[in-house]
Amino acid sequence: MKTTKIFDQGHQWFMFGRDPEKPEKIIDTNQYMVVSGEHALLMDPGGIEVFAPMLGAILHHAKIEEITDLFASHQDPDIISSLGLWDQALPHATLHAPWIWEGFLRHFGMSNIEYDGIPDEGKTIDIEETHLVLIPAHYLHASGNFHVYDPEAKILMSGDVGAALEASGTPLYVDNFEEHIPKMKMFHERWMPSNRAKNDWIDRVRKLDIQYMAPQHGRIFKGDNVKRFLDWFEALEVGNAIPK
Ligand SMILES: [Fe+2]
Ligand SMILES: [Fe+2]
Repeated sequence: MKTTKIFDQGHQWFMFGRDPEKPEKIIDTNQYMVVSGEHALLMDPGGIEVFAPMLGAILHHAKIEEITDLFASHQDPDIISSLGLWDQALPHATLHAPWIWEGFLRHFGMSNIEYDGIPDEGKTIDIEETHLVLIPAHYLHASGNFHVYDPEAKILMSGDVGAALEASGTPLYVDNFEEHIPKMKMFHERWMPSNRAKNDWIDRVRKLDIQYMAPQHGRIFKGDNVKRFLDWFEALEVGNAIPK
């Protein structure tokens, strides 16, 4: 599991992914962690398959007892089917996840971890001095869904929004936006169901100062590529499994 530090000023953001050991038929995922003082938040920690390499990777940057918080943007298996294993490894942790998914997420096995149901309008969570805003992204693509915005680092962890399907081992950042479009197009047209939800999210996100948009699959958008992505997504017709 490759680890990259994407921010390091007072607190740190880490990205984990590009695992050369990943089984071929599971979708490649990016996992993220914020470390602030002696506390850490693990975001979209991934599927059962990546639990062991993830645990190994995160322990280089935080002690096990410092990982006090988990976040799941939504209920998908690639986001959080590892929950039952984290429940054993981090029995005192709190999972922040959309309130509507509690009864579903517990099917992954959760007898120790505490569930903090995020209300539909979102909320702020504090990891010591680091304040993270949970931004509503409902129906993008799950019916209860949130992104994590760090106003100090100017990072938006955008879950499946901005995802790209490409070979594992691919570079970390989008270099040429136009060349990146074919890798994102089908994903957004098919997995994103609602143009109304998309436009509502774009209005909300355009008001944020974002330097890095970090999705759960594919590459990170940096600087002007964040705006390019928002413009491209705004123009894209989504929900294409319904015949016109
Ligand atoms: Fe998903
Ligand atoms: Fe995903």
